[in-house]
Amino acid sequence: MYQTITSSQEAIALEHEYGAFNYHPLPVVLSKGQGIYLWDVEGKRYFDFLSAYSAVNQGHCHPRIINALIEQAQRLTLTSRAFYNDVLGRYEQFMCEYFGYDRVLPMNTGVEGGETAVKLCRKWGYEVKGIPTNQAKIIFVERNFWGRTLGAISSSTDSSSKRNFGPFMPGYEVIPYNDLNALAKALEDKNVAGFMLEPIQGEAGVVVPDEGYLSKAYQLCKENNVLFIADEVQTGIARTGKLLACDYESVKPDILVLGKALSGGVMPVSAVLASNEIMLTLRPGEHGSTFGGNPLACEVAMAALNVVKDEKLAENSAYLGQIFRARMSRIIEKTDMVVLVRGRGLLNAIVINDLPTSHTAWNLCVKLKDYGLLAKPTHGNIIRFAPPLVMNEDELHECCDIIEKSILEMEK
Ligand SMILES: Cc1ncc(COP(=O)(O)O)c(C=O)c1O
Repeated sequence: MYQTITSSQEAIALEHEYGAFNYHPLPVVLSKGQGIYLWDVEGKRYFDFLSAYSAVNQGHCHPRIINALIEQAQRLTLTSRAFYNDVLGRYEQFMCEYFGYDRVLPMNTGVEGGETAVKLCRKWGYEVKGIPTNQAKIIFVERNFWGRTLGAISSSTDSSSKRNFGPFMPGYEVIPYNDLNALAKALEDKNVAGFMLEPIQGEAGVVVPDEGYLSKAYQLCKENNVLFIADEVQTGIARTGKLLACDYESVKPDILVLGKALSGGVMPVSAVLASNEIMLTLRPGEHGSTFGGNPLACEVAMAALNVVKDEKLAENSAYLGQIFRARMSRIIEKTDMVVLVRGRGLLNAIVINDLPTSHTAWNLCVKLKDYGLLAKPTHGNIIRFAPPLVMNEDELHECCDIIEKSILEMEK
């Protein structure tokens, strides 16, 4: 029986009674979003400083994206790939031109995009590179995060993601992040087909590699006939101040994985882009998804990407990101509670001067919530700050004031 929710407590109680405990949300129950704002059930307004883990780069319920959704939803939502539909081809052309690739393979969630990339890479490894059957290896880096399927957690170095979920996928090797010597050594194995990484590690706490790491890693891959796979599910689509985080080092990944903001947070849409040589190793029946490439998702994604260009979100993200980090650096001078701010564009994090097992970062997020700003800790003592990219400078300063006030009050 359906009941209307009238209070936050009621909504939380229902989740506690009927839901799995696979998340630990901040105690706020949201019922409305518009642009950079969210409202809770009681009508209190918040600045969103998470953007659904960077899925809502274009802001909540962007009218152009919602209109595309409504129009297409009234015409045709899903055909499956058993038949052609009149949107997919247009979308594929749009995606290839937008990102500069030969071909695109549409999926739904980010992790499906990653799985697709891994499968494509193995296929290329056997059929183009000539790796002996079942010997292909893919290299990942420590503290990577690309989702929760068995394929994804098999590459994880986070014990809480893996505990009691084994056995894991063979053919993976994990090396330290930001370590070119380790990469060069791992690439000595002729059975390596690919190297997959996030250009900035999001879930790990917005870890930015040294300048030159991405371009040199790409070069090493080329020298060894290994595919460079960029997981830009979180960093892509203007979040870090360029269309892709790899653009900072002019690296064009052999396989590019996108998700999250590809739909502006409206529905799960992911995509894998690659060259003819890689993508054409797949033949009918070898990979797919009932919902991947559905006309509704295609229209939503085109609208979402048009918003990114038309509203110059990458430029805004780059500009505001510099202001944000400058403001955080000034706070760090006034407090011992925060030791570091890092990030690019509007993907940033502060590191709290406490153990990952401490509650300081959580308590700070609760205080921020009380003052009307929503953010969430990652790995205990790190807080990621990733507002929608449609924010303006005054609004950003208002948010920085809230963060400053909360930190200085908590320190007392
Ligand atoms: C870099 C990266 N890749 C992949 C994923 C998985 O995306 P999804 O949760 O849509 O499966 C995430 C999710 O946070 C991510 O940050």
